[in-house]
Parts: sequence; structure tokens; C-alpha cells
Amino acid sequence: MGNKVTVSTFQKMKDNKEKITMLTAYDYTNAKLLDEAGIDAILVGDSLGMVMLGYPDTTRVTMEDMLHHTKAVARGVKHAMVISDLPFLSYHTGIYDAVKNAGVLIQQGYAQAVKLEGGSEVVDEVKAIIKAGIPVMGHLGLTPQSVHKFGGYGVQGKTASQAKKLIEDAQLLQDAGVFAIVLECVPYKLAEIISENLSIPTIGIGAGGGCDGQVLVSMDMLGMYKDMTPKFVKEYALIGQKIKAGVASYIQEVKNGVFPTTEHSFTIDEDVLKQVE
Ligand code: KIV
Repeated sequence: MGNKVTVSTFQKMKDNKEKITMLTAYDYTNAKLLDEAGIDAILVGDSLGMVMLGYPDTTRVTMEDMLHHTKAVARGVKHAMVISDLPFLSYHTGIYDAVKNAGVLIQQGYAQAVKLEGGSEVVDEVKAIIKAGIPVMGHLGLTPQSVHKFGGYGVQGKTASQAKKLIEDAQLLQDAGVFAIVLECVPYKLAEIISENLSIPTIGIGAGGGCDGQVLVSMDMLGMYKDMTPKFVKEYALIGQKIKAGVASYIQEVKNGVFPTTEHSFTIDEDVLKQVE
């Protein structure tokens, strides 16, 4: 696999206390850019439902959507590990469906691992997928596929019983064999405890700096998606503004006849032209 990031790289980074960087991508061009910038892992997140497809949440995302976008991302990536989300209901209907759908993302989508949401409720599915030779990344805390159960996107693990359940679920997933766990919207001191308890890496999103790595939705951190602005997002570039400014200049130049000039046009031999005039 050359210098491709793998599950072993993740573990080595945790052991060496080197932070793991992960971002989402959903298409060839953006995945290639993130990979060339040196990101460790690319998550083809089911957040594509919102940022690529304009849905209100992730529950409408299908296996077909995930496969389509995973294939595109995998074509653009040489170095980063590509992890693909198992969408809502693709692993909740039993072990057979879970293994089959995880297999599709690996065999046809060319992902290296899958991610799924939940703890004790999905541990049998996690074990079965790993038994089939597919690395699994867990996802605890705010699990967006359960948005209707939560009644929104609030911080998780704030009560003692919720916090204990998170700690137990993290341990359970580690024992089941996951190679890493995403912790989403969890108080940072709780995420720190979970990260210290585990021998596998935690990847935080809204879970503070004590996690072993960080993930953000790339359209959020590049200032492109504004329908929701969670507190945990930091904008590292204002690409949305740049796109709008670029498009506005293009509109103006086309309307005013400034673009295209001969610099962006093709020539034809004068003799040929005479024959058609
Ligand atoms: O779907 C997604 O993008 C995710 C990340 C936010 C962790 O699951």
C-alpha cells in the first residue's frame, strides 16, 4: 500500500501521541485537494445528505448515494485513508445487511474502512463486519442518524448516566475491535477521559482538544455551507465568499463583453474561413 494511511498508521499515531487529522470529502476534485494538502484520513460522511444533496438531515441518505460518492473520492486519493459512512438503516436491519452493505463500500466503492453510529445497540453488527475483514470506525455522542430520537443536535453525555453510558459504549466498541471512535458533541472533559481510557484513537468533532484526532465537515471549515453553523466549527478559509466573488466577476465580464477575449478563443485558418463566408 506504499505510504497509504491504514488502521496501523492510526494506531501508531495514537501510540506516538501524534494527532490524527480527518476531513470529509464527497467528490474527486475536493478529495484530491485534501489528499495533496496532507490530510491523514478522508471521511465520505453521510453529511453529504446535507452539504451535497440539500436534505435537512442524514436520514434520507441511501447506500446508492454513499457508493456513488465513495467511488468518486477513492479515485482522487493516493495517501489518505478513505473511510465511508454506512447510512441510516443500512446496518440496523441485522447482521447480514450490515456485512453486505459494508462490503459494497469496500468492494465497489474502494473505501478502506466503514464508519457506523452507535454503541451497545450495534455491537453485534460491528463484530460481524470486522469478522468479514473490514475495519470499522465507531461513532458515539451525537449520532446524527438518530436526530429524531434526540430531537435535535444537542451536546451528549451531560448527565452522569449518559456520561457513564458513553464510557461503557466506547469500551464495548474497542473490545468489539473497532480501530477508532468518532466522539461528536461531547463535553471536552468527558472526551478526555474516554480518550485516556482507550488504547485506540478517538477522533473528536465538538469534543475538545483531548481527543487523539479531529474531524470537521470540509464544507463547514472552508466556509461553504451556511445552513447550519455548529459552535465547534472553525472556518479556515472563506471559500464560499471567494466562489460568490468569482462568479459575480464572471457574470459582469460576460454581460459587458469583457470575457472571452481572443486569449481564451480558438483560431481558424483564413483560407478555410473564406470558403464558408
Ligand atoms: O457524516 C459526517 O460527516 C460525520 C462526521 C461529522 C463525523 O459523521
